[in-house]
Amino acid sequence: MVPQLPELHERRELERIAVHVAREAARLVVDERPADLHVASTKSSATDIVTVMDQRAQDLIRERLGSVRPQDGFLGEEEGGAAGGSGITWVVDPIDGTVNYLYGIAAYAVSVAAVVGDPTVPGRWTPVAGAVVNPTSAEVFRAHVAGGAWLEVPGAAPRSLELHGGPPLARALAGTGFGYDPVRREWQARVLLQVIPHLRDIRRIGSAALDLCAVAAGTLDCYFERGLNPWDLAAAWVVVTEAGGVVSGLAGGPPESAMVLAAPRALHPELEALVRSAAEAAGDEPPLGQAAE
Ligand code: IPD
Repeated sequence: MVPQLPELHERRELERIAVHVAREAARLVVDERPADLHVASTKSSATDIVTVMDQRAQDLIRERLGSVRPQDGFLGEEEGGAAGGSGITWVVDPIDGTVNYLYGIAAYAVSVAAVVGDPTVPGRWTPVAGAVVNPTSAEVFRAHVAGGAWLEVPGAAPRSLELHGGPPLARALAGTGFGYDPVRREWQARVLLQVIPHLRDIRRIGSAALDLCAVAAGTLDCYFERGLNPWDLAAAWVVVTEAGGVVSGLAGGPPESAMVLAAPRALHPELEALVRSAAEAAGDEPPLGQAAE
């Protein structure tokens, strides 16, 4: 069971806080990106350097949230989580799309969500408010439950995101992604072989949070991926559902590491059936971390 939602005024305030801290962290990762963070010169230590910026952004977000909402819990992609006493937990990905950040590709995001329930147990939690900020474009996707989904682009009035219908599967542009483990990637490639003939095409943008927000904005028609963590999807999940879309796992289950699907309401059943049959055809995923040499 997912616990009760906070009142509307509190959800609105949680969204405001999420936007504020995500924007601040977005400025940090752009302004303080190490000058030598380019691929050629960082081959040996690239992961370490990226991790430093991930950790710095997360520390900033955590400190800001702690000062305004000291009773809340915290779960972030980087080191350090804490249970809270308020019923709200902040679920944070300081840089979603780390590899794009490393390569200077402008598709990474800061994702900050307020959730109720236990975000480590699929089906036992739900986001109530969230913000996804693309630091390079300064686009802000934001939502709280029953408040609608909104896109802010610098210099323009906030735009309400509303999904209607959606194309048939054969004309759908689908986002997806691949995990870091080679065993998982092989399984994901087998699934891809099954699904790609039935879609318009596939995009691998490199940030699950931005992929999900793209579904809300209609710049992707749908999205599926195995292996997401709660911080990859928490904020964008509420953006998609508030735009009128559906975020789920397979066979009517909640979104979880095994599979996350997102689509407009009319397209979702077709997408679910396709990905489910592809996953069945791909067979069981072997244990991770055991790639052949
Ligand atoms: C990754 C990105 C990527 C997705 C991976 C995620 P990270 O997050 O969202 O698009 O395919 O599954 O792990 O590691 O860059 O925060």
